[in-house]
Amino acid sequence: MSKILIAFFSRSDENYFGYEKRYVTVGNTEIAAEKAKALTGADTFQISMKKPYSKEYDACMKESREDKLNNARPELVSMPESIDAYDTLILAYPNYWKTMPMAVFTFLEAFDFTGKTILPLCTNEGDDLGRSEEDIKRTCPGATVAKGISLCGTGIENSDPFIERWLKENGVI
Ligand SMILES: Cc1cc2nc3c(=O)[nH]c(=O)nc-3n(C[C@H](O)[C@H](O)[C@H](O)COP(=O)(O)O)c2cc1C
Repeated sequence: MSKILIAFFSRSDENYFGYEKRYVTVGNTEIAAEKAKALTGADTFQISMKKPYSKEYDACMKESREDKLNNARPELVSMPESIDAYDTLILAYPNYWKTMPMAVFTFLEAFDFTGKTILPLCTNEGDDLGRSEEDIKRTCPGATVAKGISLCGTGIENSDPFIERWLKENGVI
């Protein structure tokens, strides 16, 4: 049986929901990752930055854009000791600047994914997965990268059937 790890990056605090900004205690991608966990029973790992972006949306935009422009690799709070036990990685992240947050690159570059399958799950507000699938392929050259799923962050509470269908299509459940 395949052993699955769900690694996710998600930010709570202030974000846009439709046309208004509001503070939340759990980010959209974390909600999606929890739904994937409920469907698969997989282990989860949160990709957290040692110096997280600001709680305020505008400041977060500025800081994350700087990191993107500098091709930064933000330090993480922790890393899994090993990913050897897993053959499938569900990688969940928000679309930041048309790709993944730079902390997700830090995570991916720490391991050798040769022979493993990566399923990208990207929450966003209109740019779908952006360039993230190509970026994952480039960063993890030995991995098989499945067709990712794009989920609207604002509508994340209603995403269960989409996640379930995607996991079934990929033979994960
Ligand atoms: C710093 C930042 C950059 C973003 N860039 C994009 C983008 O380029 N395209 C897009 O469709 N959505 C973008 N968004 C919207 C997020 O992808 C969306 O709100 C996502 O669901 C947030 O997930 P989270 O709550 O788990 O952090 C951005 C949001 C933030 C905070």
